[in-house]
Amino acid sequence: MNGTFTYSNPTRLHFGPDSLDSLASELQNFGPSVLLTYGKQSIKKSGLYDKIIAILQAAGKSVTEDPGVMPNPTVEKLAEGVERARSCKADLILAVGGGSVCDYAKAVAVATHCPEDAWEKYYVRMEPLANPVIPVGCVLTMAGTGSEMNGGSVITNHAAKRKIGRVFDDRVYPRFSILNPELTLTLPRYQMVAGCFDIMSHILEQYLSGTDDNTSDYIAEGLMRSLITASRAAAIDPQNYEARSNIMWTATWALNTLIAKGKTTDWMVHMMGQSVGAYTDATHGMTLAAVTLPYFRHILPYGLPKFKRYAVNVWGVSPAGKSDEETALAGLDAMKAWMQEIGLVLSLRELGATEEMLDGIAEGTFLLRGGYKPDLTKAEVRSILVQSM
Ligand code: NZQ
Ligand code: ZN
Repeated sequence: MNGTFTYSNPTRLHFGPDSLDSLASELQNFGPSVLLTYGKQSIKKSGLYDKIIAILQAAGKSVTEDPGVMPNPTVEKLAEGVERARSCKADLILAVGGGSVCDYAKAVAVATHCPEDAWEKYYVRMEPLANPVIPVGCVLTMAGTGSEMNGGSVITNHAAKRKIGRVFDDRVYPRFSILNPELTLTLPRYQMVAGCFDIMSHILEQYLSGTDDNTSDYIAEGLMRSLITASRAAAIDPQNYEARSNIMWTATWALNTLIAKGKTTDWMVHMMGQSVGAYTDATHGMTLAAVTLPYFRHILPYGLPKFKRYAVNVWGVSPAGKSDEETALAGLDAMKAWMQEIGLVLSLRELGATEEMLDGIAEGTFLLRGGYKPDLTKAEVRSILVQSM
């Protein structure tokens, strides 16, 4: 393990088919005013909305609704939520939905008592948190982002063509999250598999970095093997509870800071994916899927031992009779076959990207320095984007 670190995670999790029963006792920890935020329609269609309202009413809460959070939540929607949170003096923001709703709830939580423009201060300038934060609780309906147990909050500014993810500290983590895998059973297949790839990408962004023998990498390999098994089963039978519950649990552990402890991380796939998202508004997990293999092939020579280990330990590739490079590439072939099998999009064009956008997408990609390829440039990013078309 490298460096000195602190591990703490303040989010209490309630997992399983009866986990919504815990909402009533969680609500007792907060004041009377609840800002209930959710997406466009799924929770009303599934009947979850009625259950949540009944629990809030039975708890004697005064509820202000904040519906209509879109995938890839925008600065304009954030301003609307802040207005509502201020006018109802929210004691708790209850997010019911996927990662977008959870991320948005965190953004409203930090922006409501911020005297300045919170987008500029906390997302563009990445300044330290300097104002009170409203507590957030989540009832998760889509597995993927890990937002249910982390401080991440990704907001999109279409006018500025920027999609920026901020990782806040413990004060912004959800105080509690309710993870009932049954709530994910109504997800369209496209969203389900996009979520699976988001999980895989989170794990790989942390795994494919560093050269030391590190416990976090062994945990990552176990999570990936569970995810691959579960995603295959869920792709065949989306109603398979066992598979969906494993997907939900791997999502949470993929991005709650545990497997980044004591190591460096990469995150360039997410930087490219987010910039693609700023231009196309495409589904997050699909933007990652489209750029991953071209990026991995580009950096593979610089991280060959780890790519070989990934092939052998995660994909079961036999290294016998193969050079290290052949073994590593066979791992990427196995990964590609899995991606095709579960139905991921492997082309940016299919997500609405055009050649004319590529300069802007490359320019809008933040360059991080934890990956295997030293000094990655925007020109290399552009060439990876071209190969991802
Ligand atoms: O709006 P509704 O009608 O609820 O529909 C949603 C939405 O259209 C639907 N959905 C969610 N649960 C459902 C359901 N439909 C039927 N049944 C259900 N049970 O799914 C669609 C997508 O939802 P969304 O919340 O956008 O998906 P996801 O969880 O993938 O969140 C994506 C956002 O999270 C950010 C992404 O950038 C993106 O903005 N991320 C957040 C991270 C974090 N906080 O750490 C990290 C990630 O890397 C990611 O960047
Ligand atoms: Zn992600």
